[in-house]
Amino acid sequence: MRVGILTGGGDCPGLNAVIRAVTRKGIVHFNYDILGIKNGWLGLIEGRILPLDLSAISGILPRGGTILGTTRTNPFKIEDGVGKIFAQVEKFELDAVIAVGGEDTLGVANRLHEKGLRCVGVPKTIDNDLSGTDYTFGFDTAISIVAEALDRLHTTAEAHHRAMVVEVMGRHAGWIAVEGGLAGGADIILVPEFPFDFDEICAQIQSRRERGKMFSIIVVAEGAKPKDASLITQTGEKDAFGHARLGGIGNLIAREIEMRTAIDTRVTVLGHIQRGGSPTAFDRVLATRFGVAAIELVKEEKFGYMVGLRGNRIVPVPFAEALAEPKTVDAELYEIAKVFFG
Ligand code: F6P
Repeated sequence: MRVGILTGGGDCPGLNAVIRAVTRKGIVHFNYDILGIKNGWLGLIEGRILPLDLSAISGILPRGGTILGTTRTNPFKIEDGVGKIFAQVEKFELDAVIAVGGEDTLGVANRLHEKGLRCVGVPKTIDNDLSGTDYTFGFDTAISIVAEALDRLHTTAEAHHRAMVVEVMGRHAGWIAVEGGLAGGADIILVPEFPFDFDEICAQIQSRRERGKMFSIIVVAEGAKPKDASLITQTGEKDAFGHARLGGIGNLIAREIEMRTAIDTRVTVLGHIQRGGSPTAFDRVLATRFGVAAIELVKEEKFGYMVGLRGNRIVPVPFAEALAEPKTVDAELYEIAKVFFG
């Protein structure tokens, strides 16, 4: 068997752990040839494919990013992109492709599978918004970074009696905001799933001050929006999957708080710091388990599936089920977060 592996979409800590697990298990246990496809689907279109051996994966477990590189390429938006992919699959004699990615990359994998590509998926995103898996790898690292940032912001917020607005990633889903915010003791958490009200935010900050808490930490997901308003985007431009670049909601909230309460307010945008650096132990283990399970699915010739975590078990999940709709923050978890608001 000759198996290609690619990483697509936004990178996240743990991608290298997946590549290492697939390669190691594939070579040592199944005697497969493993080939690395550079830069996501783009590398499969262009034929940028190279063999991976044990020395190529040596020492990569703790490394962030991806040794294969990544892009947000949508082959269905490129002239004859799909035809070129099938030509390269034939040229490089690939028997199967493992696609490591989020909803966009796996959406392409699903469509290519329907056209005959033997494909298996591995769910990746710091946003944790893919259905069919309790967790995606990268998320635990991201929320650990948010929690550490909140610990640091607490001390300076308290010293200056300020409100601190912390903007985190999370386009459609507020998992990073809710779980990072809970871990870091945020006083208010705002997520895309539940549009917010400026009067309520200001009342919560004021009520803290009335009981002697002169500072407040407000965590906001980039995709959160006020009631009856639309998303805040940086530019009108959209990527190949139709996503606008988000960002700016933190500044908007800070301006409103200052205007309405006259409380000195600062903004921190954590941005790509949440995606960079070394994965946590949890993410290394999850990514490794996903990688081993993915190459086992290839061995079983179970194509059209993604590996997923359910409870503490890794299970195959049909692409269609995983991609049906994004996994969003449920009201029950948000209620827990709200216990600590104000
Ligand atoms: O990986 C998903 C994500 O983290 C989103 O939350 C965010 O909107 C996006 O990536 C930003 O990615 P980039 O700036 O790399 O396009």
